[in-house]
Amino acid sequence: MSLWINAARVVDGSGAPAFHAHVQVEGGLITRILPAHVAPPVASGDQVVDAAGRVLMPGFVDAHTHALFAGDRLDEFERALAGATYLEILAAGGGILSTVRALRAASEDQLTALLGERLRHMLREGTTSVEVKSGYGLTTPHELEMLRAIRRAARDFPGTLVPTALLGHALDPAEPALVDRVLSETLPAVHAEFPGIAVDAFCEHGAWSVPECRRLLSRARELGHPLRLHTDQFHALGGVELGLELDALSLDHLEAATPEGLARLARSGAYGVMLPVTGFHTDQRFAAGRTFLDLGGRLVLASNYNPGSSPSSSMPFVIALAVRRLGVTALEAIRAATSTPAALLGLADRGLVRAGARADLLLLRHRDERLLGYELGGNPVERVWVNGAEIV
Ligand code: NIG
Repeated sequence: MSLWINAARVVDGSGAPAFHAHVQVEGGLITRILPAHVAPPVASGDQVVDAAGRVLMPGFVDAHTHALFAGDRLDEFERALAGATYLEILAAGGGILSTVRALRAASEDQLTALLGERLRHMLREGTTSVEVKSGYGLTTPHELEMLRAIRRAARDFPGTLVPTALLGHALDPAEPALVDRVLSETLPAVHAEFPGIAVDAFCEHGAWSVPECRRLLSRARELGHPLRLHTDQFHALGGVELGLELDALSLDHLEAATPEGLARLARSGAYGVMLPVTGFHTDQRFAAGRTFLDLGGRLVLASNYNPGSSPSSSMPFVIALAVRRLGVTALEAIRAATSTPAALLGLADRGLVRAGARADLLLLRHRDERLLGYELGGNPVERVWVNGAEIV
């Protein structure tokens, strides 16, 4: 028995122009894509959805989130509205450290439930694959607890969840030897329980320095972990150069990246992950998406969902901001939110409407994909299929 989604305007996630087609799904896969002028060979018992010219596209792949957190940062948001900067709040013991305190007060069961609830919400907004980072635990037991909660939430999530061990997220004034301990204890423990997981760090004033990131990421690389790095969010300290030297998979943020840094990243083939909600929510600085694409860079757009710098999981909103502030077209933004992040996360069968790809699909209420970039707020996603099964 097949599912036919007929008369759809297909945006296939590759960046190619939209086309009209009938799409067959069977056994969780996209099995055929027939041109709109060909009558689809619907068999008795097949389910037929008439898309009536609405946009059919791959589910969003959100490749950079901190969706597992406890508490909120509403009080700090008020301080930010009154003029305090993100790094000032962090330096005063708030920011990431506030969320660390709230997270440590929650149990693994509570964390699993919190993440599960957020993932269900993200699915309704069309996100079918999500990367979720640890990084709010800091101690070995709390980092492991976060990673276990992510693993448990993944079991109940119909989409795909990819964990990342963000072991270098913050420094704790209460633990002067934190970096040494992460190297000698946390990384080996994570390596033993989560072999092959990507390891990440936040290279910034007030967070991990370039030499500290170098120590962590070099050792993680020796242990066989893929690397990612938050870098050039506020200052270009040399994180781009470090990430490229260590063959990081992706360099994320890049709002403060220099033109030379961006050019080096584009030439390297590593992914550049840009997070426009962060600039919108904090200080109105945005990474140079247009320049990066023109240099041939592999652009990924992600939500960076977290309670401090990006309190939104909406990929349609990410695209709407990217079109306005990063200078990319809607088609480029859709590619950067589907097939390119799927490749970054090693999900080669996701992010494309192609015969043989996994049927993680969205039907929008729009008949023109440019409306994804144009409309602000709201949820344009009407129907969601994951692995061929309708979820929303
Ligand atoms: O990617 N910059 C570092 N980490 C997150 C923010 C986390 C937080 O503020 O809780 C980010 O923006």
